Amino acid sequence: MKIFKWPTWPQYGREEARAVNRVVKSNQIFADKEVKKFEILFAKYVGAKYAIGLGNATHGLHLALAALNIGEGDEVIVTSYSWISSASCILMQNAVPVFCDIEKISLGLCPSDLVKKISNKTKAIIVVHMFGYPARILQIKEVAEKFSIPIIEDASHAHGSEVNGRKAGTFGLISVFSLHQRKALSVGDGGIVCTNDKDIFNKIWKLRSFGHEELSYNYRMTEFAGALGQVGLNNLEGQNDQRIKNAIYLANLLKDVRKIKVRLSNKNEKSVYYAVLIEILVKNINIKVMLSKLQKDGIPIRETWSPLHKHPHFNPKVLPARGLPWKSEKYDGTMKNVIYKNLVLDNVNTFCPNKILELYVHPPTSKKEIEFAAKKIIEIFK
Ligand SMILES: Cc1ncc(COP(=O)(O)O)c(C=O)c1O
Repeated sequence: MKIFKWPTWPQYGREEARAVNRVVKSNQIFADKEVKKFEILFAKYVGAKYAIGLGNATHGLHLALAALNIGEGDEVIVTSYSWISSASCILMQNAVPVFCDIEKISLGLCPSDLVKKISNKTKAIIVVHMFGYPARILQIKEVAEKFSIPIIEDASHAHGSEVNGRKAGTFGLISVFSLHQRKALSVGDGGIVCTNDKDIFNKIWKLRSFGHEELSYNYRMTEFAGALGQVGLNNLEGQNDQRIKNAIYLANLLKDVRKIKVRLSNKNEKSVYYAVLIEILVKNINIKVMLSKLQKDGIPIRETWSPLHKHPHFNPKVLPARGLPWKSEKYDGTMKNVIYKNLVLDNVNTFCPNKILELYVHPPTSKKEIEFAAKKIIEIFK
C-alpha cells in the first residue's frame, strides 16, 4: 500500500545554501553585516523603527522584560495558553507571573479577564498571537493604555498576521518573533525583537551582548541566521498566501462536518495560519484515538498545548535554589499564597488541551494534501 507523504516543513534549498555559503566564505560568523541587513529588512517588513536579531525568541522575551526594568516584587500578566517561554521569561527576571484567561474566539489573552488581573504591581502584559491568529490586541491595548502598562507582543507564530491592515508586532511597546526551525520564518534557531522606542532599542541592544555596566547576556544572532533570515523573509509573503489558501480550502471542505469547526480569522484580521486550529464541538469523544489514526495516515495534526499555569515551573515539587518570586519577602500581592495549578481559568480549562486540534499546512502543502486530510478527518468525525 502506498503511504501518503505529507510535505515536510521547512524545506531549505539552493537559496539557503547560497546564503550559508556566503557566510562561510566571508569568514565572519559572529553577528555582523548579514544580521544588520536582516534586522533592517525585518523592521521594514513589520513596520517597526528598530529590530534586533537574537539567538531565539526566549532571549527576546527575557530581554523585553529586562529592558523594562521588571524584577523582584513586580507582576507580569500573561496568557496560560502558549509555549512555556511566554511565561518562563517572567521567572528569569524574578517577577511574578499572573495568568490570565483566554478569549474564546482568538484564544489569545481575554481583555475582560485582563482588567480583573491588573494590580498596582503589574508592570507588563505579554500577549501571544497563537498559531498566527491575532489576539484581541485592540481591546487589550485600550485596557493597557488606560492603566499605562506596556504590552509585549509574543508574535512567535505571527510573522505577517494583521489587524486592520497593521502587522502583529506593531501594537505593543516591544514585540518578539521566533525564527526557530519549525516557524514560518525559519533559520534553525533565532529570534528578533521589534520596537519603535529608541531607549528600549538601545537597552536591548546592550543587554544582548555581555560586558556592559548592567548585567548583560550573550544572546546574539549568528551571521548564518541573519543570512537565512533574509531568504526566509523574501519568501514569507508567498508562503503565507499558500498557508491562508490551504486553511480556507480545508474549512470549505469540512464545512458540513457538524462535530468540528475549522477556525478562520475574523474579517478585519489576517491570520497567517502557522497552524490551522480545528475546534471539536462535541463532548465524550476519544481524541487521542482519533488523532493517532490521522497521524498514522501521515497527517500533521495534534492536540493543542496544556495550560501553562499547571506547568511544573510554576508548581515545582522541589523549591528551586533561586526561590519562588511570589514567595519573596519583597512581594505581598495576591499571588503570594496561590497554588498556580489550582487557578480557575474557565476558557483555558475548556479548550486546552482537549478541544482544539492543530493542523500544519505549510507550503509546499497544497490542494492534494488538504483534500487527503479532509477526507480522513471526515471519515473520523462524520
Ligand atoms: C508562542 C511562542 N513563544 C516563544 C517561543 C520561543 O521561541 P524560541 O524557540 O525561538 O525561543 C515559542 C517557541 O515555540 C512559541 O511558540
